[in-house]
Amino acid sequence: MKNTVLITGASSGLGEEFAWQLAAQDYNLLLVARRSEKLALLAKKLTEKYPQLTVLVLSEDLNESTAVETIQTFIEAQNIRLVGLINNAGFGARGAFSELPIVRQQQMLQVNIIALTLLTHTLITHLKREKYSFIINVASTAAFQAGPHLALYYASKAFVLSFSEALHEELKGQVAVSALCPGATKTEFADVAGMSDSLVFKLRVMDKDVVVKHALKNRGKAIVIPGLMNKVAVIAVKLLPRFMSRKLAYQIQK
Ligand SMILES: NC(=O)c1ccc[n+]([C@@H]2O[C@H](COP(=O)([O-])OP(=O)(O)OC[C@H]3O[C@@H](n4cnc5c(N)ncnc54)[C@H](OP(=O)(O)O)[C@@H]3O)[C@@H](O)[C@H]2O)c1
Repeated sequence: MKNTVLITGASSGLGEEFAWQLAAQDYNLLLVARRSEKLALLAKKLTEKYPQLTVLVLSEDLNESTAVETIQTFIEAQNIRLVGLINNAGFGARGAFSELPIVRQQQMLQVNIIALTLLTHTLITHLKREKYSFIINVASTAAFQAGPHLALYYASKAFVLSFSEALHEELKGQVAVSALCPGATKTEFADVAGMSDSLVFKLRVMDKDVVVKHALKNRGKAIVIPGLMNKVAVIAVKLLPRFMSRKLAYQIQK
């Protein structure tokens, strides 16, 4: 199967939107998430609109230690020519670190960091074979600062940003690697994280189609921040003393 992009977390939000916009650019797709019915429905709608494309789905829980190996085996068994990897699956959990269940937080590290890292390592050899291949790792504007009451989420996204920037240099000329850093965006994220009532989701929320369009247009860049307000927020965080940015985040999130 030619020119295929693997998207994790494709059953909703940004991942689903990546699927639509990449299909419009004539890419075949491999969609991964846990909710198999949502994936199947999305694949059906995509192939109705773009009958020339092949859209495969794989229902996998990235919390499972076997998930990445299963994905790799599937890609090789289906003879998929992978040209893109979008490490998008991820979630947050609002609350004090000491009070949130550690199992939930461990799952967050597994999905946001470990699965993303393992998938990248496993699939880099496939991507290096292709001329215009790319990786988009979905980080967040949260990656630029500490975030009390979402401590591990912010820390996980700082990892994604740092890791992706380093890979951007290491793989220059072979695979284009970007860290996508969206701010608050209208998806299921806020509900899953328990943040729908937080100030940040009341103040400025971007539409997912705008975020994804910007990400795909800028896929050669190391750091991609969609939206003027998000860019300003990141610059402000860099200018402010760290104690101020973390206190501000705490006020917004607690
Ligand atoms: N929306 C925002 O405000 C915002 C801002 C900055 C960054 N981000 C980042 O953007 C990415 C996409 O989130 P979103 O906003 O589109 O939220 P979303 O609508 O909740 O989508 C999250 C996706 O991740 C998948 N996922 C979660 N846990 C998984 C697991 N264990 N195994 C496999 N897939 C899993 C979900 O699928 P299943 O539930 O079907 O498994 C879903 O498809 C995340 O990395 C998030 O941190 C979001």
